[in-house]
This record gives sequence, C-alpha cells and structure tokens, in this order.
Amino acid sequence: MQNNTIKETKYFTAESVANAARILLDGGLVVFPTETVYGLGADARNDNACRDVYTAKHRPEDNPLIVHLYSTEQLDECVSELPEAAQILFDRFSPGPLTIVLPKSGLISSVATAGLPTVGIRIPSHPVARRFLEAVRIPVAGPSANMSGRSSTTSFSTAVSNMKGHVDGIIDGGDCTVGLESTILGFEKGKIKILRPGAITYEMIVDLLGEDAVIQPTGYEKRPEKPEAPGMKYAHYQPQAPVYLMSEVDPELLETRFPNGVVGYMGLADPSPVAERIHVRTFPDLTAYARNLYSTFHEFDALGCSAIIAEVPPRTGLGVALMDRLDKSSDGRML
Ligand code: TXA
Ligand code: MG
Repeated sequence: MQNNTIKETKYFTAESVANAARILLDGGLVVFPTETVYGLGADARNDNACRDVYTAKHRPEDNPLIVHLYSTEQLDECVSELPEAAQILFDRFSPGPLTIVLPKSGLISSVATAGLPTVGIRIPSHPVARRFLEAVRIPVAGPSANMSGRSSTTSFSTAVSNMKGHVDGIIDGGDCTVGLESTILGFEKGKIKILRPGAITYEMIVDLLGEDAVIQPTGYEKRPEKPEAPGMKYAHYQPQAPVYLMSEVDPELLETRFPNGVVGYMGLADPSPVAERIHVRTFPDLTAYARNLYSTFHEFDALGCSAIIAEVPPRTGLGVALMDRLDKSSDGRML
C-alpha cells in the first residue's frame, strides 16, 4: 500500500524493544540501530510492509532491501543455497558488518528483493539490534534509515530528524560504532565479489579464504596513491551541501576556492590555521574518520555550510570503504 500520511512515531530504548517488536510483527516500520548505520526495519515476509519501506524513504522500487537475522540458524528458511565460503564467512565475521547475497527462499518477500532471485543477508552485532532481532525472530528487511540518496544516519537524533513521521517507531541505540554501511559480498562464477566495500575489508576476506577465492576490486590499490577523479555519476550518501574531495590538504586552496561563507573541512590532516568561517573536524585515524563521516556531514549541514571539503583517505583497508562513500557523496568533485 502506498501510504504517504504522516505517522505517529513512537520512541523505544533497549529496555522497551519488545514493544517495538510488536509493531514490526504487526506490519509496521521500526527504525533500529546497528553497528554500521541505523536501519529502517520491516517484516521481510510481508509484501505490504516491504512496500511501505520504499514509500517511507522514497526509494526506487528496483533497489532491493537487505535482510537482517538474529542468527545463522535462520539461514535455512531464508536462503535456498548456502555455498561453503558463505558459511565460513558468516562463521568468522557474523554477527558483524557483513552482508552476503545468496539465492532467496520463498519465505522472503519478492518486494523486499525488488524481484531479484537473491537476497542480501546480514547478522548485525549491535547489542540493541540483537535484542530486537531476538524478540521478533523473523527476517527483518532493512535499508539504511535515510531518505533515498541522502547520507545514512549513525545516531538516534539524526534517525529521529530523518525518519520521524515516516515510521511507526524508532529505537535508541546510541551512536553507531562502525559508521559505514556493511560490506556486501556476492558470488560470481564461484568467486567472491565485493559489491560494496565496508569494515570487513578485502584484506580480511583474502586472509580467511585466500587470494584465489576473491575477485580483486578494481578501485583497490596496494599502496595509497593520488586517486583519479571518478568519472561516474552517482546520487548517493549525499549531505545537503556539495562535497568536494581534497587529496593533499592545502589551507590556501581552501580559502581561495571558498572565499566567503561557512564551509566545513573534515579529514586526517589539520589545515589550521584557517579562517574562522571554515569549520575543521579532524580524526586521529581511519576508523574514527569512517565512524564520524555521516555525523559530520549532518553537523556541517546543521551549521549551514555551503560546501563540505573532505580529505581523501589512503585507499587500503577501511580507507577503501570510506573512499567509496566519499566518491559517491561528492559525485567525483575534486578541489
Ligand atoms: O550496514 C548496512 O548494510 C545497513 C544496515 C541498516 O544494515 N543497511 C544498508 O542497506 O546499507 P541499504 O539498503 O541502504 O543498502 C543495501 C545495498 C543497496 O545498494 C542494494 O542495492 C544492495 O544492497 N542489495 C540489496 N539486495 C541485493 C541483492 N539481492 N543483490 C545485490 N545487491 C543488493
Ligand atoms: Mg542506503
């Protein structure tokens, strides 16, 4: 059912997840925290509930939802095939920030998978997500809890500001610790393909399964190098202000390129001293940069920044995932 009316949104905590679970089991929409980003949950078996997810976030109907489980014991009912490598990956990295695309079973709504014969399965590790998934004990469809094309939400307050009125409930789980969406893996000709980089890195997967089992991602570089400006057009992960990438931090360029107005700079290197109207947020390492990416986007938007400049991270390990999000949110704009 297309339903654009404003919903009365109720708020829940770790202690009241049972009430949120009831809403979900009744076909409602519940935003829940995970270690990556907040998710917009619906009963993955229920066509109408899944349709409501697309409506709530204005998501194109051909963009499938991933499905969250409490435990690997639910895999049997959700997928029709489980390659050995998938089992090994789940055993090693789940619960955690990993999604694996597998042939779906009849239990999963084809609305959830946008008509695809496959479903992305993820078992999150966030303690509140686990309480919620344990309470419902059903597969929960859950895209990131943001309007389509916009930045994901990594805190309860941004989840509320983005989704209030669009969903029936929001569970407070505090700030997300990873801050970037899960690694998504698929299979291509028997090999593992990284469909979306995340905190479970290419290196970690190769360590577990060997180099031959994994297709090397094209964007991957063994040593950090100056990235080329990506030519592809994206509309993803975007804050309100346009994002620009800066590969070498240059305070003079910041000031001359943006001579007026409030702008935000984020990265590992500190460009200070710069004019006061340039807000600077630096992070001690890649983990902190990734964790704070979306919350800093939201913060800069709230400050009324007319542009956001982000330092290009080294493209290894978690830097690959961070760069993927920066590429897309900047549309490839380089300074
Ligand atoms: O960390 C995460 O993965 C978060 C949290 C909430 O779990 N979820 C998330 O969902 O990022 P979403 O919908 O924002 O991103 C999932 C991506 C989409 O780009 C979608 O196209 C892709 O996964 N996807 C879903 N099902 C797929 C499938 N069967 N085959 C290929 N790609 C799929
Ligand atoms: Mg998303």
